[in-house]
Order: sequence, then structure tokens, then C-alpha cells
Amino acid sequence: MKPYPPEMMEKLVSLCKRRGFIYQGSEIYGGLAGTYDYGPLGTALKNNIKNLWWKMFVDGRDDMYGVDASILMNPKVWETTGHVAGFSDPLSECTKCKKRFRVDHLEDKLKCPACGGALGPERQFNMMLSTKVGAMEDSSSISYLRPETAQGMFVNFKNVVNSFHPKMPFGLGQIGKAFRNEITPRDFIFRLRELEQMEIEYFVKESDWARAFEEWRVAMGAWIEMIGIDSERVHEVEIGDGDRAHYSKRTIDFEFDYPFGQKELYGLAYRTDFDLSRHSEASKVDLSYRDEEVGDKFTPHVIEPSFGLDRTMLAVLLSAYTEDTMGDAPREYLKFHPRVAPIKAAVSPLLKNKPELVEKAREVYAMLKKEIPQIMWDDNGNVGKRYRRQDEIGTPFCVTIDFDTLGETPEHKDTVTIRDRDTGTQTRLPISDLTNYLKRSLL
Ligand code: GAP
Repeated sequence: MKPYPPEMMEKLVSLCKRRGFIYQGSEIYGGLAGTYDYGPLGTALKNNIKNLWWKMFVDGRDDMYGVDASILMNPKVWETTGHVAGFSDPLSECTKCKKRFRVDHLEDKLKCPACGGALGPERQFNMMLSTKVGAMEDSSSISYLRPETAQGMFVNFKNVVNSFHPKMPFGLGQIGKAFRNEITPRDFIFRLRELEQMEIEYFVKESDWARAFEEWRVAMGAWIEMIGIDSERVHEVEIGDGDRAHYSKRTIDFEFDYPFGQKELYGLAYRTDFDLSRHSEASKVDLSYRDEEVGDKFTPHVIEPSFGLDRTMLAVLLSAYTEDTMGDAPREYLKFHPRVAPIKAAVSPLLKNKPELVEKAREVYAMLKKEIPQIMWDDNGNVGKRYRRQDEIGTPFCVTIDFDTLGETPEHKDTVTIRDRDTGTQTRLPISDLTNYLKRSLL
């Protein structure tokens, strides 16, 4: 596997901005550190990823239930889980320039990497973002923007059990925003202050945890393959005793070879019965589960596959980024799998000043758009330039309506050319086969 070239991030960030995938948050005001905005194509890519995740892990299974909990939660939730007391990273401030750094990210923990001054003593910095809820301005109004989506599922465990009476094992799945006041947000969308997670809390009998953990480890690997993350760049790392989160008895991190190093992409944790037991104790609400068939009552244990959505975006974009030469010209393009590609196909008339071509192309476009919404009309510039532009944003197919479509060569009447992004080859296809051809490529 080839390492990324040093300028890789610069190239990707520039493409993402130029072509409408990802912009700096609040850019016209100089930005806000740790925030990025997804543009039209980034939003489409992100929605495709979310929909695929939901289909694979919630709708596609009989043992999963989806929820969408509030970002704001009763602060007691975070006191109970230990986040208020201990969700922190080590911080140190430069005695000279006053800049603050995350100590465990520094090679030299004594010297300021910005000005060379002496770093002050290390202290713990809590990453919870707090806010005030309601009209009262006292301490009773303090709440937190959730730092993980997980707790929205634990606090709804009893509700879902009462509504659906699911058999063990079963799980809850959720996609949503989370917030962390990271000391040093960095590396584009890798370390953000406002992020999105796709998480699962899978409830099992204690005796079943190792089997379920293995099942989810394999499922996470299948997901990585399915959305086109380069699995050669993914490493499963067993997290040792001293390094795991306080609630976990076993954790595997799925790490990715980013251009800035091998770092976490996803986590898979065995959270034991930590969360349900703690919430039961603190809320005085019984969060145990009664097995109707056997008649026993117990507090379920939990396997938690946790997927950062922004890191998924970064790994998908990096895996797709390709440079080659086509027709003697260098080419920079995104080799997305069609199922994640923000645009599935672009439809063009060969020439835009020939009304009969435009009219036929509009017909084909309308026909496809009805069945596959992520279709783009493109009549800008000449056809070669269109192909290059579509390649750059990862459109897997370009459909062109030419004079043969109109019957100039009688045996080609009502056929179009369909050009493959990766090989540049063009094949002719009857218009009547086009929708199915594209739909098959999305599977
Ligand atoms: N509920 C467990 C949990 O939140 P975590 O390892 O702290 O565990 C889970 O976070 C995932 O969320 C990570 O694997 C990563 O993909 C993503 N993530 C965490 N912090 C992030 C940040 N500051 N910016 C972007 N993604 C982040």
C-alpha cells in the first residue's frame, strides 16, 4: 500500500472546497475553529452514507430499533455517567504566549510548539460544552450539548422495551450531532467540536457478550468494505487495560491510515452493564429486563459499535481520491462506489446549441430523475470538459445524447452513450435499459 504524498490533505481540502463538498464553518467571518459546513455535494454524500448505515444496521435487521433523542439532556445524565467529573483531556498553557495545547499530543511536553516558551503545569480540561436552558440564569439552568449520542439510547431503553417488548438480544441505533470542546481541533474534519455520530447500543445477556462483540466486529468490517473505505488502510487495534474508557471491559479501535498518521476511525466497546446500572441507581427507575420466556430478570450488558460520521466522510474521500492520466492529460478524481457517489449520473446533449439534441436529452434526464433522484443535468462547456468535471466530483457515469440517438445511424436510434468514470470507455445502451443499468450499479 502506497503512503499518501505529503500534500495529500491540501489537495483534498482544496477539491472539497472548490467543488462544493466541505467549507470552513462561518467562513466569511474568519471561521470558527472545529466547525465545518457541508456543501451541496458533501451533504449528498453524507446523506447517502447515513441512509446506507440506517439500512444496513437498523431497517435491514429484525433486532434493531431506531431512535432520535434530544441533543439537550437533563444534566443528571452526564453527572451519572461520569462525564461531568471526568470527560477531560490533559491541557497545558504556554507561560509566554498563553496558547493552550493537548499535552498527550505533544512530543516535547515542556516546550511550547508555537513560541518555544515554557509550558505550564498539566491540568485536566473538561470537554463538555455547556449551555443555559430556560429563563433562569443560575446554576440550575446549566445543561450540556451531548458529547455522545449513546446516552440518548440508554435513557430510552425502558421506553422502547415497554413499547415493543423486544426479545434479547436487541439494539438501539441513532444518528445525530454531538459536541466536544476539543482543546486543539485539527486535521480538517477529523477532530471537530461539532461532530456527528452513528451509534448502536446492543443489549445482551452477560454470558453472550463475547459472541455479540465478535458479530459486531465482523459487521463493522463489512460496513467499511461496503461504503468504499480502503480496507488495506484500516487496522483493528486492541486497546489495553490502562487505555480504555472507564466504562469498557474490552475495546477495539478501527484505525485508518490518514495522511497525518494512523488514528481512530471507529470504536467497538463492551460497556458491560455500566450505563444501565448507573442510570437505574441515580434515577431510581428500574432499568432491568425481564425475559418473559424464562422468567428471569437482569440488567443487560451492552456492546457499542460507534461510528464517527465526519471521520467516515474523511476516510471515504481519502479512499476515493485518485490521480492518473487519461488521454495524455493528468486527472484528479474521486473514485466513489456508485452507492455513495453524490451524483449517480450526469446527462448531457452532445451539443447544447442543437435544440433537437437538447430536447431528447431533457427527456432522458426527466426519465432518470424520476427513478434515481441524484441525477445531474450538465450542458456546460464541451463534452470532454464535462467528463473531467464529473470525474472530479466522482460521478460514476456520464450519459450523452448524440445524433445517433436521434436516428442518424438507424440501428442506434434511441440509444445513448454511457461513459465509465474509471476507464473512460463508452458503450451504447438503449434508453429503455438505462434506468435498470444505473440501478444495478448502485447495489
Ligand atoms: N459513545 C462512545 C463514544 O462516543 P468515542 O471514541 O469518544 O466513543 C466515537 O467516539 C467516535 O466518534 C470516534 O470513533 C470517532 O469516529 C468520532 N469522534 C470522536 N470525537 C470526535 C471529534 N472530535 N471529531 C470528529 N469525530 C469524533
